[in-house]
Amino acid sequence: MRILSGIQPSGKLHIGNYFGMMRPALRLQEQGEAYLFIANYHALTSVADADAMRQGTRDVALDFLACGLDPERTAFYRQSDLPEVHELAWLLSNVTPLGLLERCHSYKDKLAKGIAPNHGLLAYPVLMAADILIVQANVVPVGRDQKQHVEVTRDLAIKFNNAFGETFTVPEPSISDEVAVVPGLDGQKMSKSYGNTIEIFGDLKQAKKRIMGIVTDSKALEEPKDPETCNVFRLYKLFATPEQQADLAARYRAGGMGYGTAKKELAELFEAHFAPMRDKRAELAANPKYVEDVLQAGAARARRLARETVQKARKAVGLE
Ligand code: ADP
Ligand code: TRP
Repeated sequence: MRILSGIQPSGKLHIGNYFGMMRPALRLQEQGEAYLFIANYHALTSVADADAMRQGTRDVALDFLACGLDPERTAFYRQSDLPEVHELAWLLSNVTPLGLLERCHSYKDKLAKGIAPNHGLLAYPVLMAADILIVQANVVPVGRDQKQHVEVTRDLAIKFNNAFGETFTVPEPSISDEVAVVPGLDGQKMSKSYGNTIEIFGDLKQAKKRIMGIVTDSKALEEPKDPETCNVFRLYKLFATPEQQADLAARYRAGGMGYGTAKKELAELFEAHFAPMRDKRAELAANPKYVEDVLQAGAARARRLARETVQKARKAVGLE
C-alpha cells in the first residue's frame, strides 16, 4: 500500500492538524510505503512573503520529524523539490472540467470571503491531484475538509485513464473517524483562518492561556453539566485514556465541578502529551544540516517514482 499526504507551510501546527491529519498519517507509515511532503507550491496561494514561506517550511519539517516521522521508512520532501508535479498538473488540466473546480468548497469559501480568485486558487485541486497521482498513491490521509479534493483527484485519474489508457492508480481518501473535525476554542472547526487554534509548539504559557479561554456555557459551578456538548470535553477526549474520559464525564454529570477544573486537566494532558516532541523538536532545530539531508534524500526517492509516472503519462498522451 502506498500512502501520501501533504501539509501547507502556511501556519503554526495546531491540534486540529495534528489529530486530523498528522497523527493518522504517521500511524499509516507503519502499514505501507509512505510519502509525506511540505506543500509549499500550494502555500503560494496564500503566503506572499518569502521569509514567511522559508520559516513555515522549516517549521513543518521540524514538526513532522518531532512528531514521529521516520525518515528511514517514509520519503519526506518539499513539494518544490519535485517540479515534475507541474508537468503532470498540466496533463491533468486537460481532463479537468472547469465546473468541477468551481464547485470545490474550499474555492467557494475563499470567494465568499471576498478573496479575488486567481488561477492558482482555482487550479489548486489539479496540482493536488498531481501530487497524489505522481506517486501512484492508494491512500491519502487527510482531515474531512480535504476529502473533496481527493474526490476530484479520483475523478481526474478516472477521466485520464478512460481517455488515454490505464495510467494512474485511483486513490482513496482516509479520514480518521474518531477525529474528523477537531473543534477550536469557539466550537467551530479549529482553523488558523478562524483564529481559534491551540498551537502545539508555540509558547507553552500562551497555549495554556488559550485552553483556559475555551468557550463554554454559563452553568454555575454546582449545576450538572453535559460533557458531550462541551468544547473542553471534546478536546479532552483527544488526549485522555477511556478511564480518564469516563471519570471526567461522571464529574460533569454530578455537578459541583466548574469548567475551570476541566480546562486545567486538559492543559495538563496537553503539556504531557507534547513534552517529548517539544524536546525532540528543540534538538532537531539545533541540527539544520540533518533536517536538510532528510528532505533531500526524501526528494530523491520521490523523484525516481515521479519521473516514471510522468514518463508513462507523456507516452499516454503522445508527447513521446
Ligand atoms: P487550517 O484549517 O488551520 O488552515 P489546513 O487547511 O492547513 O489547516 O489543514 C492541514 C491538514 O490538517 C489538512 O489535512 C486538514 O484536513 C487537517 N485539519 C485542519 N484543521 C483540522 C481540524 N480542525 N480537524 C481535523 N483536521 C484538520
Ligand atoms: N491541500 C492540503 C491542505 O491544505 C495540502 C495538500 C497538498 C495535500 N497536496 C496534497 C494533502 C496531497 C494530501 C495530498 O491541507
